[in-house]
Formats: sequence, structure tokens, C-alpha cells
Amino acid sequence: VCIISTIISSSEVTTSKSLPQAIIIGVKKCGTRALLKFLSIHPATAVSSTEIHYFDSPQNFQFGLDWYRNQMPIAKNNQYLTIEKTPHYFIDRQTPARIAHLLPEVKLIVILRDPIIRAISDYVQIKNRHESYPTFDEFISMNNFTRWTPIKIGCYSLYLRRWLKYFPLERIHFVDGENLIQRPWQELESVQKFLNISNHIQQEHFYFNSHKRNFPCIKQPNGCLGSSKGRHHPSISEHTREKLKTLYSTCNQQLKELAQINFSWL
Ligand code: A3P
Repeated sequence: VCIISTIISSSEVTTSKSLPQAIIIGVKKCGTRALLKFLSIHPATAVSSTEIHYFDSPQNFQFGLDWYRNQMPIAKNNQYLTIEKTPHYFIDRQTPARIAHLLPEVKLIVILRDPIIRAISDYVQIKNRHESYPTFDEFISMNNFTRWTPIKIGCYSLYLRRWLKYFPLERIHFVDGENLIQRPWQELESVQKFLNISNHIQQEHFYFNSHKRNFPCIKQPNGCLGSSKGRHHPSISEHTREKLKTLYSTCNQQLKELAQINFSWL
């Protein structure tokens, strides 16, 4: 990995931009932003502030690797681990081969949550932009509801299979998005281990904010996520829930086997 260094003062402080050593590749609405924010408090990390969309965008991809490097955050000299997140990578067909080819050593992080909750979260985001959108129950009662993207994405095993053609399982770390909300420090402990960085981020860094629907925040100014995260979810009918449970049971079983994980909601 080539590093462009610039001396910014007469002291020893140097800054640089480097290609990421780790990428949060998804999954959309599973807590990707929270995970990145939590990781950002580690002294060894430099994290991107926006989603880069390099590997999944034909336009950005043609700009080349130097362009990609230039999108990375400026890292100070003790920040040796650059991390970017683009949740759409997980479901994009071309991305696994592209990353494997251009960043053969990179570590991948995938955060997953109960696909039913993920679907509702995705729905809420769309509904926010389209007032007259049908209710969630109405969508699920349609004949072709399985083809609706918020539902399809939750069959994680479909997409994971593609990644496993290019990456060994040891290079992919799975984060339980449900546990990241309940006990973030537990998930962070295993992420830090996977990234081979010190176990800096611990329970004492977090508090649960009653004004943020009890989601965890970091004990620092602006330590909570913004208003577009942790939104209120509508309740759904038992019938809808059962239908989705049946739909996802095969996908979840496949996921357990492929990823060798056993999260409580699986
Ligand atoms: P909702 O807003 O639907 O509740 P992503 O960042 O991948 O888009 O995921 C967004 C989801 O992260 C939120 O969906 C929320 O449930 C979840 N989340 C996890 N930890 C959070 C935290 N500490 N603060 C706010 N939202 C969090």
C-alpha cells in the first residue's frame, strides 16, 4: 500500500492518506454508521466520513486507485489503520472481485441484524422520502413481495456466497447488529481483535441515551448518531411477521453455515 506523506509542521506530526486496510462492506441499515463511529474513537484508526462508492460505481471506478486513495481520511502518524464503509458493496455483483484484485490483503467487516428489523428500517427510510408509500403490511401482502429490495437484501446468504468465492472466511468478520445496540463493547472487542489493534474501546466509553430511544452513544461531544439513525419503527401484523420468518428461515440457516456464526436472532 503506497502512502503519500506530507510534513504539515516542523514538529514530527505527519499526515497521510492510504488505501484502507479494512472496509465495512455492509449491510445497509444494520448499524454500519454506528460501528464506524465507535471504531473512530480508537487512536489507531482513521475513518472515512462519507461512503466512498468506489468499487460499486462505474463512474468512480474508472477514476482509478489514486482517486480512491485520495477520498480516504487524512491519517495522523499514529493512525495506521484506515477504514472506509460503503454498505452497498455487500450486494453489488462486481465489488467482491474488484476488491480481491485491488486490495488482496484487506480485511472485511459485515454487520448483520435480524432481517425482519432490517427490512422495516429500510422501509422507514424510503417512507420518510415518500409520504404516500403503502404500509409495510401492505407491501408484504403483495404477490411479488419477495422481489422488493428491502426484503431481498435480508437473505444475506445469497450475497455472502459471492464474497466467499474471493475471500477466505478468516478475512471476513461478522458483527451482530442486534448486540451492537445492546452491548456495543462486546462487539467492539472482537472487531478490535480481528483488526489486530489494542482493545481500547470498552464499556466505559458508552452510555445509553434515553433521548435517543436508548441507543448507545459515546461519552464525548456529538457522541450520538444523528436524527436519521435510530428512527421510530411502525408495528407490523403477526401475519406479516410470520410470513417473513418463514421466508428468512432458510436464508438464516444458510448464513449460519456459511459464516459459521450463531447470533441469537438466527
Ligand atoms: P433505524 O434508524 O431504522 O433504527 P445504518 O447506519 O447501517 O444505516 O443503520 C442504521 C440503523 O443502525 C438504525 O436504524 C439503528 O437501528 C441502528 N443503530 C445501531 N446502533 C445505533 C446507535 N448507537 N444509534 C443509532 N442507531 C443505531
